[in-house]
Amino acid sequence: MTAMARITSSVYTSHVPAIGVAMDLGKTEEPYWRPLFAGYEPSRRWMAENTPDVVFLVYNDHANAFSLDLIPTFAIGCAEHFQPADEGWGPRPVPVVKGHPELASHIAQSVIQDDFDLTIANKMDVDHGLTVPLSLMFGQPQQWPCAVIPFAVNVVQYPVPSGRRCLALGRAIRKAVESFDQPLKVQIWGTGGMSHQLQGARAGLINKDFDNAFLDRLIADPEAASQIPHIDYVREAGSEGIELVMWLIARGAMDDVPPKLVHRFYHVPASNTAVGHLILENP
Ligand code: DHB
Ligand code: FE
Repeated sequence: MTAMARITSSVYTSHVPAIGVAMDLGKTEEPYWRPLFAGYEPSRRWMAENTPDVVFLVYNDHANAFSLDLIPTFAIGCAEHFQPADEGWGPRPVPVVKGHPELASHIAQSVIQDDFDLTIANKMDVDHGLTVPLSLMFGQPQQWPCAVIPFAVNVVQYPVPSGRRCLALGRAIRKAVESFDQPLKVQIWGTGGMSHQLQGARAGLINKDFDNAFLDRLIADPEAASQIPHIDYVREAGSEGIELVMWLIARGAMDDVPPKLVHRFYHVPASNTAVGHLILENP
């Protein structure tokens, strides 16, 4: 029998752009940043032992690859390469992201046949939503150590997808990966969040209680976490807290048995954001 691809583990992390800037400018040892980066040291050690062949990276674009002209709810990157986006200060000095067109096309085929209407992206620049998580988990290598399939979710312009739909989509992605006939180790990452609001009267909002309850539920009862309505994210976690629905896609792709908690970290603040981070392994 041919060995199939499988999802070995999932990683969850915030994607604050200032974290990328701190790394790019060599400021990670400064007192403001030191505790944040310390929280990712166990993750880098774990990653060195558990480097996958492919990361399926769920993130959101922040009006860099897309704009209000075109708003795909879910877009899967099927290209050979993805360039770091110019977000206004020039592209980050990070390696070009190498895709996995064969696995990405297979996932698109399987997931669309399972009734999720994905947009196929054959050319797409990737912004801090994708590159900051890579930097946090891999540091500053010359090349990223594995292929990456970018999976962009609209959490910027309403209507955005529900948590329920995100969890179900994760399950469809799991089925797709497990039916790919190459023995690839695949990690799925959910990025963005946790509580933050970047504009308006409540700018700077942080809600530690909501965030930690979300982490508890995501680990132990993703079904319950998927029932959280949009209005609760926005009220409790701020307007950008809605990015957390992306974590449910990664969680839905995990096996239907309790995962092994490898690492849990929470730190306030980084820029305007509460940073949350989990690593979960399939048993
Ligand atoms: C910040 C956080 C984000 O998620 C983002 O996309 C941009 C900025 C921040 O905290 O500064
Ligand atoms: Fe963001």
